[in-house]
Amino acid sequence: MSLKDKIDKDKLPQHIAIIMDGNGRWAKQKGKLRIYGHKHGVISVRETAETAAELGIKYLTLYAFSTENWSRPRAEVNALMKLLVQTIHKETKTLHENQIRLNAIGNLDALPGVTRRELEEAIKETAKYDKMSMTLALSYSSRWEITNMVKEIADKVNKGEILAENIDQELIAQNMVTHLMPDPELLIRTSGEYRISNFLLWQIAYSELYFTPVLWPDFRKENLYEAIIDFQQRERRFGKTTEQIKK
Ligand code: FPP
Repeated sequence: MSLKDKIDKDKLPQHIAIIMDGNGRWAKQKGKLRIYGHKHGVISVRETAETAAELGIKYLTLYAFSTENWSRPRAEVNALMKLLVQTIHKETKTLHENQIRLNAIGNLDALPGVTRRELEEAIKETAKYDKMSMTLALSYSSRWEITNMVKEIADKVNKGEILAENIDQELIAQNMVTHLMPDPELLIRTSGEYRISNFLLWQIAYSELYFTPVLWPDFRKENLYEAIIDFQQRERRFGKTTEQIKK
């Protein structure tokens, strides 16, 4: 039985989020510059997107550039921004072929104009697809998002549009940049690091976490299958007891 056949199609996570990590170490192991690792990471992005769409995953969210990544050496930031433009331009074909809708979350105003324009163009061009929605988190961090959410709600309270006593979890979720997608059931992090690194802190309250030592540029469809199979063996209790879940 192949790995793919072991996946229960009726128990697929609707939304998978991935912290793509290890590009720099992968390049270093090969005696190359870090950007070489990022370039190879694009192949993993393509394969993961195609595989997820083919399986029937509805939402895929990729942590591509964090707010904190702006502090990396200027040359690496510039190279990453250039790679993003080239990748979005080149891979729009993959999005069309697989009927994937592109989306982006984060402080997109902080991106260079050319990156933002390329992104907006691809988002517009693929808005018609509903097979899978692929969201790139760019210049994103959870604390940035939560700070914005608090400001937006405070503004509505100040204007008298809502009462402070009516603030609830639903309203908070509606004011997050992820308001159009369900929370991820599965969060994958590559490269053997056991951290969340400021990613979707609110949204992963009940997500299953999957950590793999595989470096992102080596991540292939089999690795995605393994993560989903592992997820399907977990018992998701949401604070209840096993007995309550099995009823
Ligand atoms: C983490 O590896 C990876 C990133 C900060 C960038 C991710 C970018 C890509 C995979 C390429 C472009 C992506 C898209 C969506 C077009 P790291 O540099 O932190 O690796 P290290 O921990 O080994 O140093």
